[in-house]
Amino acid sequence: MEGKPLAAAILADTAGRVARLQAQGTDPTLALVRVGDDPASKVYLKRKGEACHTAGIRSEDHVFPPDLPRGDLLEFIREQNRNPRVHGILVQFPLPRQHDPMEVSETIDPDKDVDGFHPLNAGRLVSGLPGLIPCTPLGVLLLLKHHGVDMEGKAAVVLGRSLIVGRPLANLLSRKSPGLNATVTMVHSQSGDVARFTRQADVLIAAMGRPRSVTGDMIKPGAVVVDVGINRIDDPASPGGRRLVGDVDFESARPVASRITPVPGGVGPLTVACLCRNTWAAAARDFSDPLA
Ligand code: GUN
Repeated sequence: MEGKPLAAAILADTAGRVARLQAQGTDPTLALVRVGDDPASKVYLKRKGEACHTAGIRSEDHVFPPDLPRGDLLEFIREQNRNPRVHGILVQFPLPRQHDPMEVSETIDPDKDVDGFHPLNAGRLVSGLPGLIPCTPLGVLLLLKHHGVDMEGKAAVVLGRSLIVGRPLANLLSRKSPGLNATVTMVHSQSGDVARFTRQADVLIAAMGRPRSVTGDMIKPGAVVVDVGINRIDDPASPGGRRLVGDVDFESARPVASRITPVPGGVGPLTVACLCRNTWAAAARDFSDPLA
């Protein structure tokens, strides 16, 4: 399951929505915030800015030095909250250690929280209320839907319990809603024998951030496998001596799975497209269910 064609379709759909909003006098704008020089964050933010451009969304880059005091970042966020021209605010993680990611997420206006990390949006998601949905879980569900993977009555296993991916995705998959209704197991670092769980999965979602740790022997034959991992590993044969791999060992998993996402080119482009979709939603103040 390639992510790029669907990501392009989501961006094209979003561009149409953005143009209609602009015709009504609202110019959707996203503030992208980076603190420090993390090389991966630079790459991700560049992609996010480019995707915004494709969708006709204005993006503003705000870059701060690594020693930015904790209070200064919070004050900057409050300024963006008050700025009526800014509809979405994204602070790229990870942050230097003087910052508390939860405090940062809580400071962002929930209606401008395009990452969906604010506790109010997390609570809305769990409660089934309209709100901004985190971009990667939204991208994964749109990808499964696009490929006709019906979750009804299926055993879904989510590896990882992060607030960014595992936890919201497990919640969404178990929603009482047509096409979802999965029976979900969330597996984590203290679960013990991980393969005991993964071998039961009709749909297996790997989001624990451990390079190539899900191997073919851990997968139920015919399962649908979604790889959310993005890991940089040393590889002397690659240009630059490094390459990107997922949490799944693609070579051994591919012959066992009925469908599988590649890394790169799988979930990654969908995350970025969904960020644009969320920015449109924040600008339009339309928080209706994008999965409906
Ligand atoms: N770092 C890794 N993934 C994400 C994401 O989805 N949003 C933000 N803000 N930072 C991240």
